[in-house]
Amino acid sequence: MKLYVPLDSAAVALGADDVAAAIKAEADKRGIAVTVVRNGSRGMVWLEPLVELVTDEGRIAFGPMTPDDVSAIFGDGESHPKYLGLTEELPWMVRQTRLTFARVGVIDPLSLHEYELHHGLKGLRRALAMTPAEVVKEVTDSGLRGRGGAGFPTGIKWKTVHDAPAAQKYIVCNADEGDSATFADRMLMEGDPFTLIEGMAIAGIAVGATKGYIYTRSEYPIAISQFDAAIRIAREAGVLGASVLGSDYAFDMEVRVGAGAYVCGEETSLLNSLEGKRGVVRAKPPLPALEGFMGKPTVVNNVISLASVPVIMDRGAAFYKNYGMGRSHGTMALQIAGNVKYGGLFETAFGLSLGEIVEDIAGGTASGRPVKAVQVGGPLGAWFPPSLFDTPFTYEDFAAKDGLIGHAGLTIADDRTDMLKMARFAMEFCAIESCGKCTPCRIGAVRGVETLDRVAAGDASGLPLLADLCNTMKSGSLCALGGFTPYPVMSALTHFPDDFARTREAAE
Ligand code: NAI
Ligand code: SF4
Repeated sequence: MKLYVPLDSAAVALGADDVAAAIKAEADKRGIAVTVVRNGSRGMVWLEPLVELVTDEGRIAFGPMTPDDVSAIFGDGESHPKYLGLTEELPWMVRQTRLTFARVGVIDPLSLHEYELHHGLKGLRRALAMTPAEVVKEVTDSGLRGRGGAGFPTGIKWKTVHDAPAAQKYIVCNADEGDSATFADRMLMEGDPFTLIEGMAIAGIAVGATKGYIYTRSEYPIAISQFDAAIRIAREAGVLGASVLGSDYAFDMEVRVGAGAYVCGEETSLLNSLEGKRGVVRAKPPLPALEGFMGKPTVVNNVISLASVPVIMDRGAAFYKNYGMGRSHGTMALQIAGNVKYGGLFETAFGLSLGEIVEDIAGGTASGRPVKAVQVGGPLGAWFPPSLFDTPFTYEDFAAKDGLIGHAGLTIADDRTDMLKMARFAMEFCAIESCGKCTPCRIGAVRGVETLDRVAAGDASGLPLLADLCNTMKSGSLCALGGFTPYPVMSALTHFPDDFARTREAAE
């Protein structure tokens, strides 16, 4: 008997370890030999812990499981109260295009053998047979853009580093996933770490870097231990080291753990922290691509950008580029959270409308009340009201409506949400997380909180001041933290003026 029980942090937080222990205890009691594989999550967080039983027909899902539900799995599966059917046929799975997350939840995350059986290392082998310039061109041609949030073309960044003359170059993976409602980086590192290792090794070959660092946060202990273990296995198998898969290329990597400051997800602040310095933003230029880690040319890419490279190298640039819409090519790992019926990770080609994602895929709110707004792109993203739900999920369409898709986190709120409080939260978040280097952010965020408190107390004269403050922060801040905080504030004010006016009326 073989079962899968996720080791993913969300599943563990919901009791997956207890369920795995209960399965082993029940099997012992019955004298049945059982194999429990700890896999990544399939992304259906509302069904976690999701247990899968291997049968001749395929893997059958049960969830959300508790230890009390375990004994019935040993009986007739279909009559089990938590029986869901074949995992691959669940609507959430059928509707996805899983390219980057193709193996997450499917394989044993630390089995290099299973990884190879599922297309693993094919991209790296192909890259090793090409010149570095050809690898850069392939990634450029795929249309892949930075999945951390900014959407800068990955191939162009790689070309800058490739063309920079230096004896030492680096690949730095930004795994400091700080946006609220985002968990794609963590899920990938926990559920399929070899994909990120392969992507980083390909990046190393492409730009001439021999060393990589994964900078992640201490709040991700399972991702850290999984990734450390995967690096050791890859080294022992010759995937990493002095001769990558027997080639003339050398590449190795290590994990570095930050203390969880939001601003350390900003690339220059991250580099400072990686160098052992305080996590403060550096002015750009110079770009990290030219003067990055230890002053050397450095590729700084998000986990999902790097983890998308193996499938591009395996299936070809045209295959990847064919997915998506306009200049937003390939797939995006949507992370759906907040007050939502079906929350989790959903990988799909760019181009679905926001309404389809929120109402159809995510099923609306968990409370059953109407959706009031969705914040797209983390705490620095704009709030979108239902009147904008026809917006296609692409970089350009969101930018055209004064928003951003960022790292693709979506936080859903129902009609009871007070948008003035949400605007205040954005300013407060910025005030707490500001690195303090520039005045518009350091002082502006504090003044923003005070001004919103005035508005909440009925002082409408604060509103023009708030707009002025937001303009200053947007145009004068050194990095995205101060520069993007106006998005949630101004979108809340623009789309929900009543939430800012009613307090004034109450005071009058
Ligand atoms: P940016 O637009 O300044 O830069 C984007 C990237 O392109 C950087 O790596 C930059 O060094 C590189 N670049 C720009 N011009 C280049 C050139 N000519 N050659 C080579 N490389 C070049 O954006 P930034 O400040 O790096 O990121 C802002 C984004 O971060 C926001 O859109 C936000 O959504 C996202 N973000 C994501 C978070 C997360 O948890 N994933 C947290 C906070 C923000
Ligand atoms: Fe630091 Fe804020 Fe200025 Fe960014 S915008 S450099 S976080 S003070």
